[in-house]
Amino acid sequence: MRPKWIVGFVVILTAACVTQMPLQYKSAYDTAIHPIDESSGYQGGGNVEEGFDYIYYGDYIGSGYPAVLLLEEDYADSLAADGDFMKSRSGFRYNTFKDTNDVFVINGSCFKCHAGEVNGDMVLGVGDPYGDFTDKPGLAFKFAPMAIGRKLGKSSPEYRSFLDVWQFQKEVSPRIVTKDIGPNPAFRLEESCVAFRHPDDLTYTSEQQFPISGETPASAVPPLWHVAKKKTLYYNGMGRGDFAKLFMQASVLGIKDSTFARQVHSRFDDVVAWAASIEPPPYPEPIDEALSAVGREVFKENCSKCHGTYDTVHTYPNKILPLEKVGTDPYYALYFYEDSGLTGWYNQSWFAASPPMSALLPSLGYVAPPLDGIWATAPYLHNGSVPTLLTLLDSSLRPSYWERDTLSKAYNFDEIGLSYEVRDRKASRKKTTVYNTDRKGFGHQGHTFGDHLSTADRWALLEYLKTL
Ligand code: HEC
Ligand code: HEC
Repeated sequence: MRPKWIVGFVVILTAACVTQMPLQYKSAYDTAIHPIDESSGYQGGGNVEEGFDYIYYGDYIGSGYPAVLLLEEDYADSLAADGDFMKSRSGFRYNTFKDTNDVFVINGSCFKCHAGEVNGDMVLGVGDPYGDFTDKPGLAFKFAPMAIGRKLGKSSPEYRSFLDVWQFQKEVSPRIVTKDIGPNPAFRLEESCVAFRHPDDLTYTSEQQFPISGETPASAVPPLWHVAKKKTLYYNGMGRGDFAKLFMQASVLGIKDSTFARQVHSRFDDVVAWAASIEPPPYPEPIDEALSAVGREVFKENCSKCHGTYDTVHTYPNKILPLEKVGTDPYYALYFYEDSGLTGWYNQSWFAASPPMSALLPSLGYVAPPLDGIWATAPYLHNGSVPTLLTLLDSSLRPSYWERDTLSKAYNFDEIGLSYEVRDRKASRKKTTVYNTDRKGFGHQGHTFGDHLSTADRWALLEYLKTL
């Protein structure tokens, strides 16, 4: 059966053609909350090992910086022979692969953002709460083409490879600068790339396709192990339809065209299967079973209707809460609903037009996420404005300016989440390690669903949350 949203989607597209709507890169969908199609989401299938192999070693970004630029010597022979040797040189946050010019190149992998340290262990699939996008591109950036052209020789295939990635990088780098460490501008990165791609065949164009605002929207990075339960992706639930298409969006950073995109897509059912197979790490300290049993009842009473149940059989309602109900910072949801050209571009692009279809349908609200492994996924809320579960459950305790410990990255076993120090506004202006909840988009208001609990119930609930 054809899912309902596809029918709706086709109707909207057809209507757009009939009325000869100009290329309109604003969301064409005037629904505050888009209904969720029960038949969507991961349907099973795909090969987990192949999926991991591709995400860990694969060429899904399409282009990158020539390896000879980044490594002290030319390791080309070893590269071909042994991917793990390469990992030992470039780390798991980067992949090394042969591009369409037959040159070994290096570019960020999904694990640049989707891996992080939790209590001293590196966990693949958890969002990195210490990602740093605060560096403004400087002079070296401006003169890179000149300097690299001189180094590689302007007629070399390596230089061609450099230009392939640079044509996007030069648009991206100035637009993704954040004020502090942690918030991740992934969608802004994508927006800056697709603004310079033809929507139909994904090839590069120097003609900007839609305006991009001066602000840099950014968010926390969600864990990938929620994918198995979700029928939509992203904080506002805008990711609809084929998960493989949605999962491969980072490819717009470097792939040549839609022919290459099709090759990448053919591998991504496996990547989705891998994500759906991973499980959160178990809470590493002893848990008070009796207290947690009390907490389970508190959870059922106060939280389950939005976040589901986590007993032998899990249930998950896939709810998108309207902004006025959840009360958290509205900027992110509003940005995609009103100000971003990305959704309009996407819904006319290869991602949406070729089967299996996908779409970005932004809602004015936020998804109540699954809470599996919630102990490990601090900071909390879509913008990562709340450092610990204790402060999430009692909004009066939430710090307005707080500094994360980027050096020790220590886990906070007292409050469950990130270790932090309370700071003042002045400190937040000086240090990129201080989160400032006054900034537009980074407020820590709302989600007050734990405020009315007694202190005893709140601690019991906290104990229970460790078991999820
Ligand atoms: C630059 C950092 C970055 C990179 C690289 C990146 N992501 Fe993400 N990813 C994010 C952020 C931030 C979000 C949250 C965006 C949102 O939900 O609005 C996200 C969201 C997602 C989601 C949605 C999860 C959910 O629960 O809704 C999936 C799936 C995903 N990414 C997969 C991938 C894959 C696969 C790759 C590699 C091909 C990748 N990402 C590369 C930062 C990144
Ligand atoms: C009416 C629906 C609703 C209820 C009730 C509710 N939540 Fe939430 N919860 C949400 C929504 C929506 C979000 C996402 C908000 C955002 O990111 O801005 C959320 C986010 C969270 C998060 C942060 C998740 C993350 O990954 O950052 C946690 C933890 C959480 N809720 C726990 C609870 C607990 C515990 C209770 C019960 C005391 C509860 N919630 C009650 C809707 C609800």
